[in-house]
Amino acid sequence: MSTGNMKLVEDLIPPLEMRSNKDPKTYFDTARSNITQIEKYVEISEDAAILDVGCAAGRLAFPFIGRLKGTYDGFDIRKEQIDWATNNITKNYPNFRFTYFDIKNEWMNRSGGTVEGSQFSFPYADGSFDLIIYHSIFTHLMPDVAKQYLAESSRILKDTGSLYITFYVWDRETESCVAHNETQWQFAHQVGECRVHDPERPEYAVSFHRDWIYEEALKNGLHVKNFIQGSWRNARNHGQDYYIFRKHVS
Ligand SMILES: C[S@@+](CC[C@H](N)C(=O)[O-])C[C@H]1O[C@@H](n2cnc3c(N)ncnc32)[C@H](O)[C@@H]1O
Repeated sequence: MSTGNMKLVEDLIPPLEMRSNKDPKTYFDTARSNITQIEKYVEISEDAAILDVGCAAGRLAFPFIGRLKGTYDGFDIRKEQIDWATNNITKNYPNFRFTYFDIKNEWMNRSGGTVEGSQFSFPYADGSFDLIIYHSIFTHLMPDVAKQYLAESSRILKDTGSLYITFYVWDRETESCVAHNETQWQFAHQVGECRVHDPERPEYAVSFHRDWIYEEALKNGLHVKNFIQGSWRNARNHGQDYYIFRKHVS
C-alpha cells in the first residue's frame, strides 16, 4: 500500500490488453498466489534484490509494493508493457524498475526483434540478485535461448540466491496424461531439444524433458531445491510445473 501522493496499488491497473483479459481482481489475485507459491520455499527479505525476467507490465511486482525496500528489476521484449510499468509503477515506486530489450521471439515480439536471445547478455553484475523469477517464460523459449538464460541467471544470482522457473515438464506422467487426452497442450512435435504444441509457431507453447532441465541446470551449477507439479498435467488449464534452483542445496 502507498502513502502520500503515491498511487494505491489498486489504482495501478494496466489496460485490459496487457492483462490477458483478466478482470482487475483476478489480475492481482493471481499475482499474489504466484508469489505465495514461491514464498512457501524461499524466504524473501524486505531488502532483497529481485529480477523478474519476462515481466510484461509488472504483474508479479504488485505483491511486493509497500513491503520491498530492496529493488525489483524486470525486463521484457514488449515495449508497450514496459513503458506502462515505468510510467505507472516506477513513477510511484522508484525501487521498481523496468527495462525493454528488443529480443527476438517469433510469437511474442511481433516487431521482429534485433537481438538474438541466445546471444543476449543480461546487463546486470555477477552475483547481484537474491531471487530471479521466470513465470511462464521458459514455456515460450526455444532451447538455445533457454540455455543462455540459464547461464546468465546463474552468473547474476548470489550464492545464497534462488531461481524460480515455471515449465511444462515432459516426463512419463505428462506423456501419459497427453496420451489420455487430459491436457490442453499435446506437445506432439519434437523440435530439436524440446517439444512444441504447434510447429507453425513453436514459441506458443514449449515443453522440456525433465532430464534436459536437470542437466542444463547442473551445467550452470544450479541444483534443484524444489519441484512442484502444476495442474496442467490432468486438467485443461495452464497451471505450470515449477522448480526452485539454488547454487548450493543443503
Ligand atoms: C506469458 S507472458 C508472462 C508474463 C509475466 N511473467 C506474468 O507472469 O504475468 C510471457 C512474457 O515473456 C516475454 N518474453 C518472451 N520472450 C522473451 C525473452 N526472450 N526475453 C524476455 N522476455 C520474453 C513476453 O513478452 C511476455 O511478456
